[in-house]
Amino acid sequence: MSALLELEDVCVRFGGLTAVADATMSFAEGEVHALIGPNGAGKSTVINCISGFQRRSSGEIRLGGETLPHLDAAAVARRGITRSFQTPQLFSRLSVIDNVRVAHQRQRRARLRVDDLLELVGLTEVAHHQAENLAYGQQRLLEVARALASSPRLLLLDEPAAGLASEDTERLSRLLKLIVTQFGVAVMIVEHNVPLVRRVADRISVMHHGLVIATGAPDDVLNDPAVIAAYLGGGNPSTEH
Ligand SMILES: Nc1ncnc2c1ncn2[C@@H]1O[C@H](COP(=O)(O)OP(=O)(O)OP(=O)(O)O)[C@@H](O)[C@H]1O
Ligand SMILES: [Mg+2]
Repeated sequence: MSALLELEDVCVRFGGLTAVADATMSFAEGEVHALIGPNGAGKSTVINCISGFQRRSSGEIRLGGETLPHLDAAAVARRGITRSFQTPQLFSRLSVIDNVRVAHQRQRRARLRVDDLLELVGLTEVAHHQAENLAYGQQRLLEVARALASSPRLLLLDEPAAGLASEDTERLSRLLKLIVTQFGVAVMIVEHNVPLVRRVADRISVMHHGLVIATGAPDDVLNDPAVIAAYLGGGNPSTEH
């Protein structure tokens, strides 16, 4: 699979703290690439850098061989990269369906209709509820529907399963498989739910203290002694929920 997006030696420093250190990784069309690691490892900072919400201190990020601009989230989104946030960023006073419509209207070549998007994430029954009245897990699914509404080439999801009931986690994993196989979308998922990661990921990268310490097939990575050691005290990655 050829790489759609590549990070080469990306560093992000906050004063004296190196949140991301020389990260090199790639994301391919039709692939789910999971990024895991203990709290504070630098995962969200990687998403923020790719999506133009955080300036990288050094290094290159290329989409289809073209360098992505620094700190220009709108320009990055126009190139087909969308994201969800670790803390949902919704229009809280708008209805569920209007939240999706807003994202959908920005896109001229949307692949999916608004109704279909709601169906895919299981929010049809609450389509006319105000977003702020949704359960937390449903707000995360609405974030995913909004991110999908603009027909991305690369979808970046920051802990989409946090707070989801098990049937919604199941739905999310089916949805991810569907969008990569049917639409050839590349998905990068940051997630602490390792059983979910094991089910959906084609490849896993692991970060620890800003460093990418492993990349590869799920079984290899999750059994890597360095990865298990990184999780000691925070739970074994192969058993954590
Ligand atoms: N804007 C910021 N200013 C200063 N430090 C920051 C900023 N954003 C993140 N950090 C720090 O950078 C490090 C990496 O944070 P990041 O949010 O990327 O971790 P994470 O892997 O997403 O963790 P979690 O699993 O808890 O979400 C942490 O030490 C965090 O405190
Ligand atoms: Mg995070």
